[in-house]
Amino acid sequence: MNRFEEKVVLVTGAASGMGRATCIRLAAEGASVFGLDVDESGLAQTKATITDSGGLIEVSRCDVSSREQCFEAVDKTVAHFGNLHVLVNVAGIIRFGHTHLISEQEWNLTMGVNLNGPLFLCQASIPHLLASKGNIVNVASTAGLIGQAYCAAYCASKAGLIQLTKAMAMEYCKTSLRVNVVCPGGTDTEMIGGISMPDDVDGELINRYTPLRGNGQPEDIASAIAYIASDEARMIHGSVFAVDNGGVAG
Ligand SMILES: NC(=O)c1ccc[n+]([C@@H]2O[C@H](COP(=O)([O-])OP(=O)(O)OC[C@H]3O[C@@H](n4cnc5c(N)ncnc54)[C@H](O)[C@@H]3O)[C@@H](O)[C@H]2O)c1
Repeated sequence: MNRFEEKVVLVTGAASGMGRATCIRLAAEGASVFGLDVDESGLAQTKATITDSGGLIEVSRCDVSSREQCFEAVDKTVAHFGNLHVLVNVAGIIRFGHTHLISEQEWNLTMGVNLNGPLFLCQASIPHLLASKGNIVNVASTAGLIGQAYCAAYCASKAGLIQLTKAMAMEYCKTSLRVNVVCPGGTDTEMIGGISMPDDVDGELINRYTPLRGNGQPEDIASAIAYIASDEARMIHGSVFAVDNGGVAG
């Protein structure tokens, strides 16, 4: 498939996991990809993988919790590739712990990366996306749809991102802009590998939201994003997609 030929796509979290898989998938479908992350060596690996297989990608360090860096990154993308058709907000962080012990700094960090970052990048991108008849795909989580123990800041940030998506979908309903959100369930990435629970974790609380069909792979999320961001999905607007092996089905 070449659904992204002549399309410029900006992807955050491009150094790892779903963000990297999304860059690879969209580049394989013809996109010119601009990848952002704080992890420069991961970005270099993503770039090498795509370039080695003949794809087009440029990367840049960007801390998405900084409004200034987000606006600069959008400017760089447009300066480099001449346009912007799709924004994919994938970067995210998670910290586990008891709610009554979350520090103000930890709360703000989670909100900064998971919620403020997507907002800043949407703000900077929307004028370009309106001109290019483009679209936005945000990556939230099933943790934004259901309550999950030991990660209140994460749940709140992802629920906020879902509502941000729906609010923008309504606000720009009379334009060509499409805005959607994907909610992955457990997916085998570095984020899952790095999980550290409180010492007194109650397994019964965690097992409630472990899908019976197991985890997915980053490529599963990338293929959902590729569909939603493509013109095939032209009727999809303001939608919340759980890609979670049935985790929130019941
Ligand atoms: N892995 C899962 O099970 C799972 C489930 C649901 C939702 N998600 C969400 O999917 C998205 C991708 O996660 P992943 O599993 O691929 O994790 P990952 O850790 O492999 O990738 C996340 C990327 O975000 C980058 N990042 C972190 N802080 C940043 C910042 N301030 N600015 C720019 N980049 C930053 C990291 O460097 C990393 O490359 C996240 O938003 C995450 O919350 C993951």
